[in-house]
Amino acid sequence: MASDRVMIEPATPDALDEVWAIEQACFSAPWTRKMLAAELSGNPFAHFLLAKCPDPLSEALVIAGYFCFWIVFEEVRLMNLAVLVPFRRQGIATRLVCAALRTGLERGANRAMLEVRASNQEALTLYDRLGFRQAATRTRYYTNPDEDAVLMDMAPLQLATLCEPPPGELQKPSSRTTVHGPV
Ligand SMILES: CC(C)(COP(=O)(O)OP(=O)(O)OC[C@H]1O[C@@H](n2cnc3c(N)ncnc32)[C@H](O)[C@@H]1OP(=O)(O)O)[C@@H](O)C(=O)NCCC(=O)NCCS
Repeated sequence: MASDRVMIEPATPDALDEVWAIEQACFSAPWTRKMLAAELSGNPFAHFLLAKCPDPLSEALVIAGYFCFWIVFEEVRLMNLAVLVPFRRQGIATRLVCAALRTGLERGANRAMLEVRASNQEALTLYDRLGFRQAATRTRYYTNPDEDAVLMDMAPLQLATLCEPPPGELQKPSSRTTVHGPV
């Protein structure tokens, strides 16, 4: 599937069931439904983006992935990122993270941080390509299984070249977030 068929848009609380299903499919220690509900509607710092793609068979739009991040004063905190297996390696997570970083810049943030399981090579590579650096280790930060977290940060906050559309190409409407501009 071409990545320009992916739409990035803000989540609404009615996405909760689908988001929770993706959460359970993608993590060994998933957030609870209640935690996700709080991020979708109760947390004033939280932003929640969905990546929607046409289903390969029916062409109906389905949620392929999502991204929850916080903007806390000058800092973007990357909280929860997941893409369903059939939709991986198509640049969807990259687009979601770029959208978050762009929103942070628009709102005056000047740094970004996240924690990731030390064994999660896919995510470590993704964040490295976007300009994050490994800053510290948090011992036994995660459970199920117990594992260290790698703390990654980016300061100053900036958009990697990866986040920009190819030179000379206008962004198509389908590749825009509805509120945060091109992704
Ligand atoms: C990590 C995750 C979000 C990546 O989603 P994605 O949409 O496949 O990511 P992208 O297509 O944007 O990948 C960007 C880059 O990351 C790296 N990458 C992603 N998946 C990879 C894999 N399985 N193996 C090696 N590198 C990988 C690659 O460098 C890739 O670029 P490339 O495809 O041009 O080589 C997805 O694998 C996932 O949902 N995993 C389970 C949940 C999770 O670990 N979330 C992150 C918690 S911090």
